[in-house]
Amino acid sequence: MLSHQSRNSTFFKLALYTEKDHHRHLFFLFNKAYEDSESDTLKDSLGALLNELIDYTIYHFHAEETWMEEHHFPKHEKHCQEHARFMTRISELHADYLSGQTQINLEVLAFMKNWIEEHIMISDAEYGRFHKIH
Ligand SMILES: [Fe+2]
Repeated sequence: MLSHQSRNSTFFKLALYTEKDHHRHLFFLFNKAYEDSESDTLKDSLGALLNELIDYTIYHFHAEETWMEEHHFPKHEKHCQEHARFMTRISELHADYLSGQTQINLEVLAFMKNWIEEHIMISDAEYGRFHKIH
């Protein structure tokens, strides 16, 4: 268990800042995808978006899971299972895209919206509250 002093260290605050920064990047990607969808250019940027999402998912989930483990978050395992489901879904969408299915724009947007609404706003927020008081 971390001591009070280490929990208030610069490193700990930096980790919190980095987590927010990570989420900001997902919001940026979602806004870009939404704008591309509105201007009917998402079909052209979809490949790059999916590649970016996969890279983002790998580094972000790894970082978040490491923080949760280090801080003994009680729902760490359940949270990792949610991450695994997102990884599976993004891999399926990417495989669909590579196999030539070009009509998945709305599915990708729905996936990102679900991630923000169901995971970041609920599960990540729960971890954030835990982080503040421990
Ligand atoms: Fe998460």
